[in-house]
Amino acid sequence: MDTGRTSFERIIKEDRAAHDARTWRGSFLEYLDRVREDSSVAQLAHARIYSLITRSGTQDILDSPDPRVHRLYSDGAVKVYNFFRDEFFGIEKAIAHIVRYFHSASLKGEESRQVLYLMGPVGSGKSSLIEKLERGLEGSGSFYAIEDCPMHEEPLHLLPRHLRKEFEKMLGLHIEGDLCPVCRFRLKEQYGGRYEEVPIISALFSKRNRVGVGVVPPVDPNNQDTSVLIGSEDISKLDLYSEGDPRVLDLSGALNVGNRGVVEFIEVFKNETEYLHAMITATQEKVIPAPGRHGLVYVDTVIVAHSNEAEWQKFKADHTNEAILDRIVVVKVPYNLRLSEEVKIYEKIIRNSDFKAHVSPHTLEFVSMFAILSRLEPTPKCDLLTKLKLYNGEEVIEKGRTKKIDANELRDEAKREGMSGISTRFIMKALDNALSDNIEGNCINPISAREALISMVKEADLPDDTRKQHLEFLQDVLHKEYLEMLEKEITKAFVYSYQEQAEALFQNYLDHAEAFVNKSKVKDRNTREDLQPDEGFLKSIEEQIAIIGSAAEGFRQEVIAYLWAASRRGTRVSYTSYEPLKEAIEKKLMTSVRDISRIITKARTRDEEQTAKHNTMVQNLLDHGYCQNCVDVVLKYAANNLWKD
Ligand SMILES: Nc1ncnc2c1ncn2[C@@H]1O[C@H](COP(=O)(O)OP(=O)(O)OP(=O)(O)O)[C@@H](O)[C@H]1O
Ligand SMILES: [Mg+2]
Repeated sequence: MDTGRTSFERIIKEDRAAHDARTWRGSFLEYLDRVREDSSVAQLAHARIYSLITRSGTQDILDSPDPRVHRLYSDGAVKVYNFFRDEFFGIEKAIAHIVRYFHSASLKGEESRQVLYLMGPVGSGKSSLIEKLERGLEGSGSFYAIEDCPMHEEPLHLLPRHLRKEFEKMLGLHIEGDLCPVCRFRLKEQYGGRYEEVPIISALFSKRNRVGVGVVPPVDPNNQDTSVLIGSEDISKLDLYSEGDPRVLDLSGALNVGNRGVVEFIEVFKNETEYLHAMITATQEKVIPAPGRHGLVYVDTVIVAHSNEAEWQKFKADHTNEAILDRIVVVKVPYNLRLSEEVKIYEKIIRNSDFKAHVSPHTLEFVSMFAILSRLEPTPKCDLLTKLKLYNGEEVIEKGRTKKIDANELRDEAKREGMSGISTRFIMKALDNALSDNIEGNCINPISAREALISMVKEADLPDDTRKQHLEFLQDVLHKEYLEMLEKEITKAFVYSYQEQAEALFQNYLDHAEAFVNKSKVKDRNTREDLQPDEGFLKSIEEQIAIIGSAAEGFRQEVIAYLWAASRRGTRVSYTSYEPLKEAIEKKLMTSVRDISRIITKARTRDEEQTAKHNTMVQNLLDHGYCQNCVDVVLKYAANNLWKD
């Protein structure tokens, strides 16, 4: 008990000491020395955020060892910003656009005087992106402000105009902005104009304490009170002071508190146009009106707004809004369309939540496939599942060949893709529902997730044809796809040392195919005998991917040529090197155990040998991430669907 108490006390004390060590208070004169040491302490808002983002560095997306990434981005590198990397997936282009905005704004280009506006469908990550910037500011250490200024303004505003040129030279920076009415008054009344003595403090960005981060929720159109934005006059003080006395000012609007940092406009176009004018002047002119008759107040803040596309279109259609439109940088934030990245989104959300259930293998993959299919536009070049795989950088095999469709071309043809479809929230709700249907099992799996999705789609408020298509994805396309994944998984669990058997088949195939192509003999590895290439064996592999008759010879040549080229490049070849052959080998293994896995899985009673095989298979699945609950579920599902009698 005692030791516990001491350690509480110790932690609190240490924390307070650390906090005190970080806080600083001094005169304006002392502040000037700090700026001379490091002029970045006086950065303007856009530059501050740009440094924040770039400080953690960047990577080239092609630095990834994943061959899928190389297939997808072969035509041009995309920069990945480490600042966003661990939390945002598959929206690298939108992020690069956002960073571009901050870069140009940090150089005081035109964009520093424009609103950054994120537009995208529900649940595409708009709010999270802005929140990430806000959290970044909160964690970025302290900034300096005039003590007790309601807008925690930049101390350099204290410098009188006529001295600024000289100070700019000495400090190596540009000084802009003027004192707010409150500080101007206090400088005169309290410090008799001796600005060098005005106390300066270090402050921390904080959304909760309303320091440097302001938020404007959509306001009731019948009550567009601008005090939310620019503060108000405190009526109780109006009697105390004469007209125009800044002591009546309550500068607590979002644009006041967001000075130095960001102001976020949620669902921005739900507001009346008049309301948006304050937002525009704040960015364009960097001033806002002070409430009452107190003139204008300088503000330095990044204005970020977001809404969905429908609101944007409505707003855009109104010609009276042209002036505003011209002052907005639009960044589209579409849904992610890469399967591997969609899975990471749900892994992240689950990690950050109280969701503690077991997630069976392929569950997130399954729901992600559904989400992405719903977002894709049809193309005459292939079906949607193929498109999904191509967008994931996979090689799709058709008639023994990799399909030659360029994912980038597909994407260029479908400009609106990713702006509609199933949202991340819909998927998370389905996972929650799947779990509440299986509280005792405390496990979700592709089968229960699919059921949850089906019933949610049936209930959702969707156009009939959309609902029909979604149900087709779930009941047909993905059902088949999942069964294929499941059969492969069970095969792997059944086949003793799957990897080695696949490699052995591969080596054997190569030996015989090479001899066949070169019209030579195969040397038996054991007896050293020269043998004729075994065409029967070659065919038994090829027929797995429907290569029969005259196609076989061409296929063998392709395999040999491909692998030759690969090994000349120094790549180690294995059964996974050439996608069509890999598929054929996996299918061959699958066929070879199909009968036995059917019998053993379906059997009500098993003899001793079967029981042993069954137990090993179950154990393998458990080792591959299944839990006792979902092993039962998927095996029953396989028995009923995969090996129907
Ligand atoms: N590409 C993505 N990468 C990582 N997380 C994502 C991505 N897209 C969505 N999310 C996650 O999905 C959830 C919903 O996103 P968020 O609330 O930011 O969406 P939004 O675009 O603001 O939606 P709305 O228009 O409904 O306000 C969040 O947990 C978010 O982190
Ligand atoms: Mg949002």
